[in-house]
Amino acid sequence: MGPITLAMLKQHAIVNKILLDFEKIPKNDTYYIEKFNLFKWNLNKHVFVEEENIFPVTDKNNKVEMKQLQNLLKDHKDIKGIIRNMEDEISDGKKPNTMFLRELLFSHEGREIKSFYPLLDLRLSPARKRMILNQISEVKLR
Ligand SMILES: [Fe+2]
Ligand SMILES: [Fe+2]
Repeated sequence: MGPITLAMLKQHAIVNKILLDFEKIPKNDTYYIEKFNLFKWNLNKHVFVEEENIFPVTDKNNKVEMKQLQNLLKDHKDIKGIIRNMEDEISDGKKPNTMFLRELLFSHEGREIKSFYPLLDLRLSPARKRMILNQISEVKLR
């Protein structure tokens, strides 16, 4: 597995663990909102790294990369929309159903790890990858 793929796989593991922890907490628990905010904060940092630091290196002349990039950006938009709806439900005192979020998030992560990041790991020069990895390491999750 290439270095960018591996670095993002590690971030996914952290984000997923927080989501799964959140799902187990009853809504009257004091940590319920705190855990949800922790999930959102970490997911946002992860998406920030992807959109600001990795996605911009996509090769505009490569149809496969560009198509995958469009799909990933659409996923991010959909994921943010679901999270906004969940926030509304939480502020109404409801416990939101996380199934849609979990399914979309996990399949999205699969698209990144199995297709998109391996393409970048194959194509980018070691120097370019090192630059990206340095920036990734500046955004700490958790
Ligand atoms: Fe993503
Ligand atoms: Fe990701």
